[in-house]
Amino acid sequence: MQITPINDAIGARVEGVDLAAGIDDGSFAAIHKAWLDNCMLLFRGQTLTPTQLTAFAARFGPLEPPPGSEKDLRADSGSDADKDMWIISNVIENGKPIGALGDGEAEWHSDMTYLDMPPTASVLYGHEVPPVGANTWFANMYRAWDQMPASLAGEIESRQALHNSSYTSAGELRKGMDEVTDVRDAPGAVHPIVIDHPDTERQALFLGRRTNAYIKDMELADSEALLDRLWDYCVGGDFTYTHEWERGDVLIWDNRSTLHRRDAFDPSHRRILWRCQISGTALPSVHAA
Ligand code: SIN
Repeated sequence: MQITPINDAIGARVEGVDLAAGIDDGSFAAIHKAWLDNCMLLFRGQTLTPTQLTAFAARFGPLEPPPGSEKDLRADSGSDADKDMWIISNVIENGKPIGALGDGEAEWHSDMTYLDMPPTASVLYGHEVPPVGANTWFANMYRAWDQMPASLAGEIESRQALHNSSYTSAGELRKGMDEVTDVRDAPGAVHPIVIDHPDTERQALFLGRRTNAYIKDMELADSEALLDRLWDYCVGGDFTYTHEWERGDVLIWDNRSTLHRRDAFDPSHRRILWRCQISGTALPSVHAA
């Protein structure tokens, strides 16, 4: 097995591993360490069934099954592996989308930060990918925090933010949710803006997503202005990698230390990704009051 950094900012490529065949404990320990060190790992050329994908993902921790609103999108296959797997897709069958997020842009985000215990990791497998487009971008939030100008860092290090649950990263209102009219009262979870990573004990910026975010205990206009400056800084800087998908790619990222987004793509092309999510823990901060 070889593990090689993808670029200076984030990610490593793992070669010489057949995930379908399973991984011995020694190899898994090296993969787990590389995942924590590099924030995101890429395995190319894999051929996986849902059972093999969920078995790989479950090595990282208990899986977070898709919520009812996701399951409603597709027919129940009856398979246990499938119950722990999400579908990200623009494909429509019998008038019904088979998965989430369609073919539009998905804004920068970490997954499900509107939960008190957001997922530890997410795994994506390229089951069917378009010939071009739908790139997935990743940003390293350790690096964003480490390199942040002291004046900006001082404004946020002891702050907490509200992470709204009403919309998907593609901007769709979730089933059963109301439109947000005031971000200060929006449903969701509150997390420190700078977290102490539970596994690495490094500090990372933890922003969730820009839409409907609110920095607690600030005037609304001040919160909006500070959030705009933070987002401009962390996704405009030299912290990112853009992944161009090939069929058979597997990506696993650390949801606590990364942000990701997806480019829109040609709706006439089919895209089907399988996703697993690993259940999370609360996110502490040394700066919390
Ligand atoms: C996601 O945002 O979780 C999906 C990313 C993608 O579709 O590439």
